[in-house]
Parts: sequence; C-alpha cells; structure tokens
Amino acid sequence: MATSGDVPGQIVTIERFILEQQSIQPEATGVLTNLLYDLALAGKIIASRTTRAGLIDILGNTGEENVQGEEVQKLDKFADRTIYRLNDHTGRLAAMASEEHPDLIPIPDRFPVGKYVLIFDPLDGSSNIDYNVSVGTVFSIYHRKTQDGWGTIEDCLQKGRELVAAGYFVYGSSTMLVYSTGHGVHGFTLDPSVGEFLLSHPNIRIPEQPKYYSVNQGYQRFWSEGVRRYTEWLQGQDGSRKVLSLRHIGSLMADFHRNLLAGGIFYYPADAKDPSQPHGKLRLLYEAIPLAFLAEHAGGYASDGRQPILDIQPTGLHERTPLFIGNRDLVEKAEAFIQEYG
Ligand code: AHG
Ligand code: MN
Ligand code: MN
Repeated sequence: MATSGDVPGQIVTIERFILEQQSIQPEATGVLTNLLYDLALAGKIIASRTTRAGLIDILGNTGEENVQGEEVQKLDKFADRTIYRLNDHTGRLAAMASEEHPDLIPIPDRFPVGKYVLIFDPLDGSSNIDYNVSVGTVFSIYHRKTQDGWGTIEDCLQKGRELVAAGYFVYGSSTMLVYSTGHGVHGFTLDPSVGEFLLSHPNIRIPEQPKYYSVNQGYQRFWSEGVRRYTEWLQGQDGSRKVLSLRHIGSLMADFHRNLLAGGIFYYPADAKDPSQPHGKLRLLYEAIPLAFLAEHAGGYASDGRQPILDIQPTGLHERTPLFIGNRDLVEKAEAFIQEYG
C-alpha cells in the first residue's frame, strides 16, 4: 500500500502516474497515455452510476438480448455507451469491439482514426447488479495491424502476447482501477470526495502463498474427471497440501481482484453447466486475455487448461474459452490434472 494510518504517504494521482510511466518509454507519443486517461474517466462515470443504482431508475433489464443471448441490463448499456462516446472522436482508435455488440464498432466517418484498437466488456457480472454485488469493466488495447483506414476484425483478433495495455475496474466497496502497460501491475482507488484515482497498490505481485480457490461449484456434476480431481486436490483431500478456502462471487473482476491480492486460483472450466457449450462461458477476447495479461505481469499465469491464454489465436470476436487463472503453480497443476484425466 502507498499510504497507511492517518499520515498520508506520497499522493500520486493516476494522471501523474500515467505520465511518469510514459516518460520511461522513450518511443511513447502520449496517445496511449491519453487513451488510458479517458478510460479512467469512463470508469469514474460508470462508478457514479453503479453506486447510485438503487436510487435511480436504472435497475432491471431492458428486455433485449445481447449477442451472447443474455438479458441486457440497463447499466450494461450505459457503461457501453459511456466508453464508446469517450473514445469515438479522439483520433486515438481505429476501431472498438464490445461484448455488447455483435460486430466491430467502427469509428464514425466524421472523426479521424488512430493507431490503437480498444476491446472491452463494459459491465461484467451484470446479473449481480440487482443484489448490490460488485461488478466490473475490463479493457484491452492493441496496436492496429492494418496500415491505415478504418480498423478491421483482423486488428482485434490478436493474441494476448501482442497486448499494449489491459486493465479493469471493480465497482465494489470502493472503486478501483488496476492496469498494466507491461511495466508492472498497478492499482488505484477512487477517492470519491475529490473524484481522483489515487495510487494505492503499486506493483502488485500475486502472493506466493495462495489463500483461495474460486469456482462455481454448483456445476460440479458437469465437470470432467480432471477438473473434479483437481478441485479435490485444491481442497487438500489427499492430505498432500494445505486446504484452500473457497471464495466465489460470480463476478469475474471481483473474483480475479481478490485472488490477485490474496493469492489463489479462479477457474471456469470447459464443461461447466452446459455440455453444449464446450468452451465454457467466459469470452477469450473481452475477459480472459486482459486478465491473463495482468496475471502474468503480476507473476501469475492463465491457461485454458492446455495452453497459455496469451498464446491462443482468437478466431472470432465472441469466442469463448475455459479459464484457469491465478498463482502459476496452481494453474500448472490444473493443466497437469487435465492432461492426465481430461
Ligand atoms: P457478463 O456479466 O459480462 O455476462 O459476465 C458474467 C460472467 C463473470 O463475471 C462470472 O464469473 C460468470 O459470468 C458467472 O457465471 P455463472 O453464473 O455461470 O457462474
Ligand atoms: Mn463479462
Ligand atoms: Mn458484460
């Protein structure tokens, strides 16, 4: 933590921090800096709505279905629109892609295009909104691959290893932003009284001693042999390891964030819930890749059970993937169980 007790340590706003990070990258032009700053602003605007969700007529769903066939919550739409509107006209982006849109979101032709693509899940965990449970936003930034003109799907379908930056917001008991440009993973807490994100968790590393495992155990009967045996191993049932506590919120940003700070593993396996959904529920592009990037830069690891998430070549905007993410040794153990038992 940067500060403790009543005596504040050095107060670093996100603006100053992003600018200082830019100065350690000599090739930086300031475009990424401003893009990150716009995203921080989007997070503040979304937080201002999530914290008032019970007060204004924004709860409940809109009666529509999104591309994933799920009910769209009003706050999802608000968050989606906020991120889009802050970024459509800046000349920093060639295109955007959102979990809420079936296709690529082009930059309107009255605005200039830029060199980055922005991929985001505007509101993750939205089924939790009505119950006052933490939700989140997650984003990825890539360099465009095409040379000029409007961005294309090809610009979005890049491996996680190509990421320029990724981050997420958790709208919880406080609002936090955690992001990385590949130079450490840094966490900021929104001070609502001054409206600034302040550096609270510099250089996050996943603790070596994990505390928690996180999975929707309600789907246990759909698990493969490997995932079942792995879970028993996490529970210390064979006596070979210390017992891990189970913590599962059902809101990926909150589950990931807790395990990033406390140590542990989150998984949503391939065969959970619906055998007709062989790749699980989570989205490779919007959810798995940005969190995998953050996990690796914090000393952890993410896998689909067989290969690193960051090495997977995406083939579609809404592709799903199994996800095992957290302490490296725990994720590698999951791979070993899956390799042996399927
Ligand atoms: P989204 O709200 O963006 O559709 O994603 C929700 C995800 C994720 O946050 C969570 O881990 C998972 O759905 C929970 O799903 P289950 O209820 O199937 O466990
Ligand atoms: Mn999501
Ligand atoms: Mn979502």
